[in-house]
Amino acid sequence: MTTANTVDALTLRHFTLSLDKQRLAWLRIDMADSTVNRLSSEVMQELGQVLDHLAAHPPAGLVFYSGKDSGFIAGADIDEFSGVNNAEQGQALVARGWRLFDRIATAPWPTLALVRGHCLGGGLELALACQYRLAVDEPDTRLSLPEVRLGIFPGWGGMYRLPRVIGPMAALDLMLSGRAVSARQAATMGLVDAAVPSRVAMHAAAQHVLSGKPARRANAMHQALNNPRVKPVLAKLVQKKINKQDPYNHYPAPRLILDMWVQHDGNPLKAPADIEALSQHDTTRNLLRVFHLQERLKEFGRQAQADPISHLHVIGAGVMGGDIAAVSAMKGIRVTLQDQDRRHISQALGRAATLFRKRLKNRRLEQSALDRLVPDPDGHGLRHADLVLEAITENPDVKRALFREVEPKLKAGAILATNTSSLSVTGLGSELSDPSRLVGIHFFNPVARMPLVEIVTTDALSNATREQALAFVHQLGKLPLPVLDTPGFLVNAVLAPYLLEAMRCVDEGMTPATIDQAMLEFGMPLGPLELADTVGLDIVHAAGRQLADNGLPHCLSAHIERNELGKKTGRGFYAWDAGKMQKATAGTPPPGLANRLIQPLIDRTAECVQHGVVADTDLADAGVIFGTGFAPFRGGPLHYGASKHDS
Ligand code: NAI
Repeated sequence: MTTANTVDALTLRHFTLSLDKQRLAWLRIDMADSTVNRLSSEVMQELGQVLDHLAAHPPAGLVFYSGKDSGFIAGADIDEFSGVNNAEQGQALVARGWRLFDRIATAPWPTLALVRGHCLGGGLELALACQYRLAVDEPDTRLSLPEVRLGIFPGWGGMYRLPRVIGPMAALDLMLSGRAVSARQAATMGLVDAAVPSRVAMHAAAQHVLSGKPARRANAMHQALNNPRVKPVLAKLVQKKINKQDPYNHYPAPRLILDMWVQHDGNPLKAPADIEALSQHDTTRNLLRVFHLQERLKEFGRQAQADPISHLHVIGAGVMGGDIAAVSAMKGIRVTLQDQDRRHISQALGRAATLFRKRLKNRRLEQSALDRLVPDPDGHGLRHADLVLEAITENPDVKRALFREVEPKLKAGAILATNTSSLSVTGLGSELSDPSRLVGIHFFNPVARMPLVEIVTTDALSNATREQALAFVHQLGKLPLPVLDTPGFLVNAVLAPYLLEAMRCVDEGMTPATIDQAMLEFGMPLGPLELADTVGLDIVHAAGRQLADNGLPHCLSAHIERNELGKKTGRGFYAWDAGKMQKATAGTPPPGLANRLIQPLIDRTAECVQHGVVADTDLADAGVIFGTGFAPFRGGPLHYGASKHDS
């Protein structure tokens, strides 16, 4: 911006309004007492005042931009949604945002949103209400309407405007998946007018908003799909997709979003019954709960007092070590990868290249991630690393021998981590001269997809090591959960009795497919026996021996004797062909089966809280949801167990 005069007539806490020589108004959004901008009621109310002021003193144009490094706007204030208990409150919340953004859309002067960093939910709806949108071309720029993931809908004009701007097919895809797009993707699909380099962004905004260009609209072919006679045809196809993703109808929001687009042109104010249905649905409340749980886990990482890791050394390039190395390199960390078998290193590099292609979708970024991932069969990187993480074979003697070799070579201040899933971290550190620098950093398989990482704490652990581990997990964009060093930590400890109960049902003569079917209907991402086959029956067997209270199921021992270890050997409870499970026909699960299977998991989770494995019930629920995929719409095992009691 050239010269700027702050508009004195207004007293604003969350915005700064300035006018430049061209009478262009610049509205800087900078929410007070917050690191991110949120559209809380106070912020929305102030925005209303700004619009009143501009209506009385019309500018040549208006540009919205953010004063936060973190991004544009992170959406509405979720706490205000959580406070909605009835249909009236829901409608009032929707109406306030809808009407305010409508004032932006109908302003007599041109408007532009300059988006840098995250632009989520209500933030994107505000941008959509503007005549123009520019996105700063930076890796952190991400635009999305993630409401569906919280069990709600984009109710402030997003459902109405997005289909007009990018066409209903792309719009429904974004609204029903909640997925984010980058600045360039947004430009390609027409969501923004252009992706602009950071250094010219303000200049480009000033030019664009006064350009007089027509607002961007989807082309005629896509617009045609918005025709009320065509809509039902497209809706049928979309409905099919929704049914496939949610066959048991656990999640009402996607169906309601589709319905609001078809029946009410994306205007929820015309659909009070839909608002009422969602505001009273358990799924909505539970998904909002899960959002808060996720924030609590993120907070462990955000609060951690430690510098980011710049060099990670991984020892063991197998399934876990290879993938931990890849994910770390993808997140900007320099990684050296050691293994006694060079073939495992090259296999890990091959998998990393595939992951980078899939996730980064940009040749330059893929290449730099690959450059950061350095094969290091002889372990030269060890002496320079800030963090050395071992993911070698699950054998305590071998791991202790490795630590004896590694410890003297660690640089000052470096920490040591183990990815063990079943061994005592305290035991593994018993021969270290400084056990305070050893921490368990327990990732889940597949590393790239599983959000949770358990931080296993021991009595010997120093605060500095703990903080460093939390910061590292945060750096990877994952959710750290501190747990005590007890058998199975939290997640495996609660999974074991659940998997074993499923196997007892096999002993009683039920088919694996029928047992799994019961839990799919309950809302699990995969059934317990498919999960056991995927993890490996040898691993479940070892965990079961450690954790089972009342003996192991016969079928498990029988599979082990026949070396049928599940997916990795091609046979377990199911037949597997080239890593793909051969589907078996499921019968109708007997009534009560899901409850029978889930109860041991709930009981064990409660025990873990009692024994202090995790600090409280919310953290236990968070761990089980993000570590096992426990049906999120049920709000976590303990929450579900308590509500079952109440009902
Ligand atoms: P894996 O067998 O796929 O890989 C182990 C790798 O370590 C192999 O490449 C092997 O060559 C290498 N290795 C063994 N001894 C070594 C030594 N002394 N020096 C250098 N390299 C050595 O095993 P996986 O599944 O990756 O497990 C590794 C660790 O991660 C174990 O502690 C396991 O409990 C843990 N874990 C495994 C999970 C899984 O689902 N597979 C999940 C979470 C943790």
